[in-house]
Amino acid sequence: MIFDADLAREILSKNESTGRPHLEILKMRTFGELRGILFNDGASWQRQRRFALHHLRDLGMGRSTLEGIVQREVTDLVQRLRDTAGRPVAVDHFFNVNVLNVPWEIVAGIRFQPDDPRLPVILRSLSDASSRSTGLLNLIPVLLGPQLGAPIAHKLYSGVRRNRDGLVEILKLTLYSVLMDLFTASTGTNSVTLEWAVLLLLLHPECGRRARQELNSVVGPGRLVTLEDRARLPYTQALLAEVLRRSSTLALAVPHRAEADITVAGYRIPKDSRLLVNLYAIHHDPEYWVDPLEFRPDRFLHDGQYRPDKHLMPFGVGKRVCMGESLARMEQFLFLANIVHHFEVLTPAGEKAPRFDYICGTRNSPAPFRVVFRPTDAQAVNESG
Ligand code: HEM
Repeated sequence: MIFDADLAREILSKNESTGRPHLEILKMRTFGELRGILFNDGASWQRQRRFALHHLRDLGMGRSTLEGIVQREVTDLVQRLRDTAGRPVAVDHFFNVNVLNVPWEIVAGIRFQPDDPRLPVILRSLSDASSRSTGLLNLIPVLLGPQLGAPIAHKLYSGVRRNRDGLVEILKLTLYSVLMDLFTASTGTNSVTLEWAVLLLLLHPECGRRARQELNSVVGPGRLVTLEDRARLPYTQALLAEVLRRSSTLALAVPHRAEADITVAGYRIPKDSRLLVNLYAIHHDPEYWVDPLEFRPDRFLHDGQYRPDKHLMPFGVGKRVCMGESLARMEQFLFLANIVHHFEVLTPAGEKAPRFDYICGTRNSPAPFRVVFRPTDAQAVNESG
């Protein structure tokens, strides 16, 4: 387990650390063999990752052409929040539809309405595919022994086989696996990070107020915050960085495997060792961060300017760094900045403020909580942005 930012950077930049654990349960997600990106490795992983990046870039990932797709979802979210008309909102899963719509629109050209009856089925499948992948079973492989592992594995595989009719060509299985990886890797992490952002805004109203003042003076009322505004919003950027640090949604990133012996800092990591990078520990290391448990966006401000910090690595680091980092950063900024610009987040009348509690799992999510979104003066949302 790697607890140190510099060591993580050093180890994970080596080709030898790009393996993933070879576990039956991971093969089962992708039709009995290692396919796709997230849990694949070697030449096949490189090919699929390159293929997906190439096509996602063609579709606009990493460029401002995607902003239109994200802004449509931001507009929809702001309207949905307005429609709550001051009634308490259960935040868990609230953002799923808008977050899912971004990759869905990129890949399939359509978007879902929040009341689409297919939506719960899709979200459940994505959540299953993801909790099967990085959960406890993968971290403690002994659980995959014949007693416990076999029945679970059998059940999962038969589920996959049922979907297999028609997908007979290897190519289709591979494409299906790549797409499943893109959707599972993007949807939950993105929406849970937004849930943390709302919780942290609720618990630290002074930070929301400061960001709102900045947004009011830079963006002004009557329009959405855009990417072009970002450089002139240092405090809002710092707020997002602090949300990413404090939430550390993917606390243990995704497990790696040493593909060959690795020698680093005087240690030998033998081939096939499991490598876990503890992003939560790196983001809360008291030797680096002052008062790490405090929520303090100012730690990312220097002379009033936002300065990224190399010790903040919510998207991982090195050769297997998150493939959707630029898209995720764009989404997180636009969703968060527009929520803060258009709403004040309050505890519902008569309810106790929620605590900062983690539910640990594939991703760390906040314990369920409810809030009221009270529209600020910046009321009118101009859809043209
Ligand atoms: C707040 C949002 C997100 C966070 C915090 C996040 C974080 C991460 C982390 C920590 C990893 C593992 C890195 C490692 O193996 O060391 C990862 C992998 C990955 N992420 Fe993200 N991610 C986010 C959003 C997205 C989005 C929007 C996409 C979609 C395009 C995406 C696609 C992927 C893929 C495909 C991988 C696997 C890369 C590989 O194994 O080579 N992620 N992400």
